[in-house]
Amino acid sequence: MPGGNTRHSIALAPYPIYAASGCGCRVTDAEGDQRIDFLNNYTSLILGHAEPKVTAAVQRRVALGTAFTMPTGEDVELAELLAARVPYVDQVRFCNSGSEAVMLAIKAARAFTGRHKIAKFEGAYHGVYDYVAVSEGPNADEWGEADAPNSVTERGTPPSVAEDVVVLPWNRLDACRKRIAQHRDELAALIFDPMPLGIGMIAPLPGFLEFLREETARHGILLIADEVLNFRLSYHGAAHAFGIQPDLGSFAKIIGGGFPVGAVGGSRQAMSVFDHTGRLKVHHGGTFNANPVTVTAGLETMKQMTREAYERLNRLGDYFRDRLRRMFRDRGLPAQVCGKGSLFVAHLTGNDLVDFRSLRGFSRNNPVYGDLCHQMLQRGIIVSPRGVFGCLSTPMTEIELDAFVEALSSSLEALDFRPL
Ligand SMILES: Cc1ncc(COP(=O)(O)O)c(C=O)c1O
Repeated sequence: MPGGNTRHSIALAPYPIYAASGCGCRVTDAEGDQRIDFLNNYTSLILGHAEPKVTAAVQRRVALGTAFTMPTGEDVELAELLAARVPYVDQVRFCNSGSEAVMLAIKAARAFTGRHKIAKFEGAYHGVYDYVAVSEGPNADEWGEADAPNSVTERGTPPSVAEDVVVLPWNRLDACRKRIAQHRDELAALIFDPMPLGIGMIAPLPGFLEFLREETARHGILLIADEVLNFRLSYHGAAHAFGIQPDLGSFAKIIGGGFPVGAVGGSRQAMSVFDHTGRLKVHHGGTFNANPVTVTAGLETMKQMTREAYERLNRLGDYFRDRLRRMFRDRGLPAQVCGKGSLFVAHLTGNDLVDFRSLRGFSRNNPVYGDLCHQMLQRGIIVSPRGVFGCLSTPMTEIELDAFVEALSSSLEALDFRPL
C-alpha cells in the first residue's frame, strides 16, 4: 500500500498500532496492550466494540447468507426506523458509505431543481465526492478573500468541478447572504454539517442555521444536512438537535452498527427522483446496498439507542467536556473545548474560534497532534492523530472519561506544551 496505508485519516508516523480485538470501549493491539478507545472507528461504533446482541444478530444473519439479488426485509425495517425518528425523512435509500450518501443527496438536489452548482463551507469535510472535496482543507496561500473564498481542488480533480462549487465562510452570515444571492439561480443545494469536524466542531452562531434554512428556501435551493458524523447527537438526529428542518440528509456510521453503510433520506418530493415507478431521474445501483449483514447490525444498534440511551450518553459528554475545561484551566492553558452530545474536540489555542480560518496553525496538520497521540497511546488512550478529537460510546462510564483527562494532562506536561 502506498505509504503503508489505505486510509489517510488513520496514518500515524512512524507506523500505526495494529488492532487485534475490541470489546466494549477497549481495544487490544497486536502486542497484547489494551487501551480505551475514544475514536470508535471515527465515531461509527456508538455501542463500542463487539456488542454482544449486535454480534449475535450478525452471526445469525451471516449463517443465512450475506448478500442476495433480492431484498430481505431488514432493509425495510431500518428504513422505517429512520423515517420514524428523523422528522424530515419520509423516504430512504441505502448505499455503502457516507461519501456515497452525500453524492446521492447532491445528485438528487440537482435532478430535483434542474440546477447544477452546490454551496459548501470552507474547511468542511463531507467525504470523497469531487464536489464536496472542494476547499476541504485549503492552505492559507490558497484561501482568497475572507468573504468570497476560493474554490480549491486537489490534483486529480478537473478544474470544472471548482467552477460548480460556491465556497462559503462558516458563521459569516452577511458574506453567505451575498454569495448565495449571487448564485441563486444556479444553486441546486447547500450542504452543511451543523457541527463540522473539518471546522473543528465550532458551533454555529445563534441564528446562523436558521438563516441558511430561510435563505435556501427563499431561492428554491435544497438544504442538505450531512448527518454522517453528527447523527449520533440525538434520537432524532443532528438537524433536529439544532432545530433545523432540511430537505435532504446524508447518514452513515452508527446506522451500520459497525459495518460499511450510507443512506440518503428526505422529503417524499425530493426523494421521488430515485423512484423507478415514477419519473426516474437519478439512477442508483450498488451491489451491496442494504445488504442484510449491514442492515441487521444497524437495526440492532439503533434499537438499543433508545431515547434514554442517548440521554445518558449525552450527559456523560457534558460531564467530559466540563472536566476537560477544568483541567485546561487548572493547567493555565488557554484551550477551548468544542462539541456536543457524545462528540468533543479540544483546541489548544486561545484564538477566537469562528470559522475555518480562525483555526489557523491548529488545523489537523499541526504536528503537536501526532506527538499528543503518541503520548496518549503510551497512557492507554486512543485519540485521533489529527486533533484532540473523539467520541464516547455507551459502555463508557466516568472512570474512562476521568482516565482520558488525566492522560491528556500528563501528556501535555510531558510535551511541555505551550500555546502559540
Ligand atoms: C460529515 C461527514 N460526511 C461524510 C463522511 C464520509 O463518510 P465515509 O467515510 O463513510 O465515506 C464523513 C466521514 O467521516 C463525515 O464525517
